[in-house]
Amino acid sequence: MKEMNQDSSTIAWNAMGDEWFELAQTGESRNCFIMPNMLNFIGNVKDKKILDLGCGEGGYSRELAKRGAQLVSVDCSTKAIEYAVSLANKENLQIEHFVRNSNNLFDIESEQFDIVLCSMMLMDCEDFEGTLREVVRVLKPNGRLFASVLHPCFDGNHESGIGRQGVGIDRQVVVMNYFEPKEWEAPLWKGTIPVIWRHRTMEEYIKTFCKVGLTIVDLNEPKASEEQARISDAMAWLKKIPLYLYWELKK
Ligand SMILES: C[S@@+](CC[C@H](N)C(=O)[O-])C[C@H]1O[C@@H](n2cnc3c(N)ncnc32)[C@H](O)[C@@H]1O
Repeated sequence: MKEMNQDSSTIAWNAMGDEWFELAQTGESRNCFIMPNMLNFIGNVKDKKILDLGCGEGGYSRELAKRGAQLVSVDCSTKAIEYAVSLANKENLQIEHFVRNSNNLFDIESEQFDIVLCSMMLMDCEDFEGTLREVVRVLKPNGRLFASVLHPCFDGNHESGIGRQGVGIDRQVVVMNYFEPKEWEAPLWKGTIPVIWRHRTMEEYIKTFCKVGLTIVDLNEPKASEEQARISDAMAWLKKIPLYLYWELKK
């Protein structure tokens, strides 16, 4: 059987085991902000064929399947895929799952997807350009890539890159070095197991999109609504600083 090719991102995320699942399912920023925004940007998915690349525990895939899309879900973490399969089965959802490095989607046919979704994973994979080349390969002509990342202007390594000062909604972003470090190891928020974080500059994102032949259709830096801001100070801060950046790109 053909094995997934390993690199630093696949090794780190496999070592994470199941810690991510609970963080994902309980994290307020993911569930009350990042995910609802993405689902809103993607819009009507009825009868669309979607690849959820870096699907994690599969929450986006299940929601999109319930909205009438046909889903293929891919992650480099074997545990994440086993868990996603078990939840899809529990809800009787027909979702196809693969363990793959995003830079080599072998056995996944070219030009078959209307949409590829990369939610909060393009800053995690080691091979960004290789990943985008695979996205372009599997998208139909005119197909769309919807991607969200930590906003590279406002988040990064907090010690020496893009840090924080102060507390609550008066907290400030302090840019010590926009260009470095490009990668470092640290646990996820509220996590314990280190994973590799990557900082890609805005220039690197945009130039690589252009290099592989993707065109930007839309870019969003969503602000928290009044209702979201009432949840916590962290959410209220999102009325002032866009910590998450979203693109819609066209093949
Ligand atoms: C921050 S999590 C996001 C998970 C999910 N998309 C979400 O938003 O809930 C990043 C995911 O990308 C996966 N990932 C990281 N590098 C990858 C790679 N090279 N190939 C495939 N998946 C990768 C990780 O295993 C993890 O599940």
